[in-house]
Amino acid sequence: MKYKEIIELLNKMTIEEKIGQMVQIGGDVFLSDDTNGMLTGPLKNLHLSKKMVYHVGSVLNIIGAEKVKKVQDEYLSKSRLKIPLLFMDDIINGYKIAFPIPIAQGCSWNTKAIQKMTEISSMESSIAGANVNFSPMVDLSRDARWGRVMESIGGEDPLLGEIYAKTVVKAYQGKNLSEIGKIASCVKHIAAYGAVEAGRDYNTVDMSEREFRQYYLPAYKAAIEAGAEMLMTSFNILNGIPSTVNQWLIQEVIRKELGFKGIIISDYGAIEETIAHGYSANEKEAAKNAINAGIDIDMMSGIYANYLKDLYLENQEIENKVNESVLRILTLKNKLGLFENPYGNTNEVKENTYLMNSKNLEKAKELTQETFVLLKNKNRVLPLKTNKKIALIGPYIDNIGITGSWSMFSDRTKNGTILDIFKEIMGSQVLYAKGCEILRQEEINKILSAEGLPMVHVENESQKEQDMIASAIQTAKKADVIVLALGEHYRQTGEACSRSNISLPENQIQLINKLYALSKPMVLILFNGRPVQLSTIEEKLDGILEVWFPGTTGAKAITEMILGENNPSGKLTMSFPQNVGQCPVYYNHYNTGRPHHKNLRYVSRYQDIPTESFYPFGYGLSYCDFKYTELYLNKHKMNKNETITVSVKIENQSDYAGYEVIQLYIQDLYGSVVRPIKELKAFKKEYFKPHEIKYVDFDIDIHMLKFWNEKLEFVAESGEFKVFVGGDSVNVLEDKFELDFY
Ligand code: BGC
Repeated sequence: MKYKEIIELLNKMTIEEKIGQMVQIGGDVFLSDDTNGMLTGPLKNLHLSKKMVYHVGSVLNIIGAEKVKKVQDEYLSKSRLKIPLLFMDDIINGYKIAFPIPIAQGCSWNTKAIQKMTEISSMESSIAGANVNFSPMVDLSRDARWGRVMESIGGEDPLLGEIYAKTVVKAYQGKNLSEIGKIASCVKHIAAYGAVEAGRDYNTVDMSEREFRQYYLPAYKAAIEAGAEMLMTSFNILNGIPSTVNQWLIQEVIRKELGFKGIIISDYGAIEETIAHGYSANEKEAAKNAINAGIDIDMMSGIYANYLKDLYLENQEIENKVNESVLRILTLKNKLGLFENPYGNTNEVKENTYLMNSKNLEKAKELTQETFVLLKNKNRVLPLKTNKKIALIGPYIDNIGITGSWSMFSDRTKNGTILDIFKEIMGSQVLYAKGCEILRQEEINKILSAEGLPMVHVENESQKEQDMIASAIQTAKKADVIVLALGEHYRQTGEACSRSNISLPENQIQLINKLYALSKPMVLILFNGRPVQLSTIEEKLDGILEVWFPGTTGAKAITEMILGENNPSGKLTMSFPQNVGQCPVYYNHYNTGRPHHKNLRYVSRYQDIPTESFYPFGYGLSYCDFKYTELYLNKHKMNKNETITVSVKIENQSDYAGYEVIQLYIQDLYGSVVRPIKELKAFKKEYFKPHEIKYVDFDIDIHMLKFWNEKLEFVAESGEFKVFVGGDSVNVLEDKFELDFY
């Protein structure tokens, strides 16, 4: 459709039809035979009139070619102007093929791998009818208590957030949205949702504008620059005003300063929630606040549907704002080619050949391996020797539930289990005992009852627990090495899953302690959605492989990795805390006036734990041994137009081939505002043959030295800087240089 035709269409629309475009509901109503059902079913709380239902512009989480077509047909058959619905979905880590959860993807430090995973999920969801995906989530996340850190692709680092945000948006959208395999990206959640106080989901966010610009804004900005078609607001308040009605955030920063031209959608029910926040006095005021802030689509609160017209009748100027929003929505529908073909790229035939196809599954396995982080490998316990007897123990050994809490559409039939795959490879050399449940039923019941859900009673739970441990001990006794697969329950991570205790469940710790008494080498494969506390169990383990929730091909990827067919190369994107009391802990913090020093009392520290994180940002081992030497700067002084080239010698001192992520950090030693002790400025992931030596270099330019000063200007200042290069944020070589504005 030409622009002129879109305007003509807009001019034909009644105010109700326009408002409808700004309303998003669950699409199931269009699948219901019972015409009244739609108003008594899931939508009854929204109080939508039947007429409004056939005006709505978009639906949520309907996917699958047949279903999408049915909903679109039903809708169009009763809609006057036949403007196709937009289908928006949460394809967070893949559609049918579940890829590793976003925090894991980030640990690959490989944009090509992330791009490929995104392209496969984009293709799968596009042919299954999705037009828009509520992804990526680029909220900077420093607090392991927050359940949603699992969705954060850049973890605690603003540079990773920026780079990954661009990669993912471009991979979803390509150059032409109407092309098969391309869908619009809805980046979330503006803004600073990751900074909820105490890591409690939906909680308050309050921070200085400088902090906001320095750390939180860059990833959203990068996504906008990459052309993201949509943004979603966050549930939190930002400096006293809910994001969804925050005019400074939406109008001043997002629209004016960053020049965002796309659609802004509220998060689920968030317009209505401005009442509970204590900001809007009632539903009508909530509608007014949201439209004035510039929210184009109301996701699932019914507030726009029920109040925008009243506001319009009181003040017809509101129509200008409505027109702006509707124009944006129609423009996106047009870019997706929906006016020519309301089904978009929906294609049942392709669904049959493409979804879960073996080529993509093989690729997924390769990519999944890049997301694993080897946290410990004492005495080179890994890779396992295949001539040994292995006891596989733990509730994640024979378990296909390893796709994470957002993989509701994934096809689990091909998930496979670690047990099956080990047995295939090693036959009777593999022994198995479950050892324990992931979580005691009494713990699961606590979660269920807090959510008003029915609890499940288990007879003699503690006796069963003892029996399982006893059988695990018997199994382990017959083996040379124990491989444990433990971790968080999937209901402990994700939205509304904040935790004040980030240890492994107590029953799992008990199992580790009992098996430790056998004095056999013991390796832990760790399944989790957040950095967990490992300090109480780490010493008992010889090896720890962090696999997060690795998805459909996870079991195969893990087995091959621990048997040495592949070599771990992931690096952490969030620091692991010593314990929950240390949260939030992140590498790019400030120094304080009393930095921690041994043997001093009045310094910034805890009495009972070290000041440093347990595993630092950027950390991750390999089966290779990489040695860094010869840090060399081609000069030690630069002006604003120059660059300094930093090079380092890296030697793979092992017989294994593998990848290493080489990281460059900078510290601005003295600034007009204090600067962090280290900031990631560049990284490269390089392949090394056995015993290969490489010289790797980076260029430092003025842009890497800029920061937000007190006057909120983005500047670099003359002075001394430290530069660090290493395989993580702690073990680094360092040197200094000077920036001088001569
Ligand atoms: C989440 C969003 C998600 C939306 C739609 C909300 O509860 O915060 O991230 O996209 O639901 O499912």
